[in-house]
Amino acid sequence: MPTIKVLTVTDLHRVRVLYEQLAGAVASHRPEVVVLVGDFLDAGGDHPDQFTTAECAEFLSKLPCEEVVFVRGNHEGDNWWEFYATWKQTRRPLRALDRAVFVHGPLVMVGFPCLMGDETAFVESLSDPDPNAPHHDVDALRWLPKALAPHGAAARTLWLMHEPPAGTPLSRAGSVVAGNPEWVSAIERYSPWLTISGHDHGTPRRTGRWHHKLGRTVCVNAGQTDTGRLHYCVIQAEFATATPSLPQRMTVLMQPTGETVGVTG
Ligand SMILES: [Fe+2]
Repeated sequence: MPTIKVLTVTDLHRVRVLYEQLAGAVASHRPEVVVLVGDFLDAGGDHPDQFTTAECAEFLSKLPCEEVVFVRGNHEGDNWWEFYATWKQTRRPLRALDRAVFVHGPLVMVGFPCLMGDETAFVESLSDPDPNAPHHDVDALRWLPKALAPHGAAARTLWLMHEPPAGTPLSRAGSVVAGNPEWVSAIERYSPWLTISGHDHGTPRRTGRWHHKLGRTVCVNAGQTDTGRLHYCVIQAEFATATPSLPQRMTVLMQPTGETVGVTG
């Protein structure tokens, strides 16, 4: 039975110790795919030991996995150009998702945009000259049906969105980390099996809840806290066939809490 393991992490903010812990987690869990769900960069130097933007690209390009996938957070702004240029020099394929689907074996994952901050650099670096390409779509959700349609039900497996869906215990209402209400609409419409977010570093720690169910969808906030211990998820998906499809079974291991959640869709 084909099995795909994905390690997701968010909000590294160029902090050296978190990047180093990520490398340790990848060595330990040996995922096929690592996904950075936004805010792996930032514009400020508010931590005493941060990588430069170029060092982030060089470090991540050396992760020993088959694919490294990026989804934009609000802290990927103009700094993306330097990251992009450095990554291109590494010759590793750049898998940056913007309103787009990425397929790895039987696993189909959907990369949402982040509608906060300045997405110009990220979008322009990936732009397809076709004016109908989804990144040119200013309607936050009009692009989604177009992106999902070619993949059928398999596109409901794993959604990656830096901002959490709004109105859950995973983010703080009425704040800049309140989450995105349009993602709630999308989840209610399509019932994806699993969504992974970050962005709000504090609320899950305060509530003690790192996951929440919206209908049948398991939503996870895997954002960092100020403890210095890396938060990340290891998703294991088992499939009946090697072609893109919904999994037969999926689990999410959340670290460092060690909690495992079954995802059944
Ligand atoms: Fe963020």
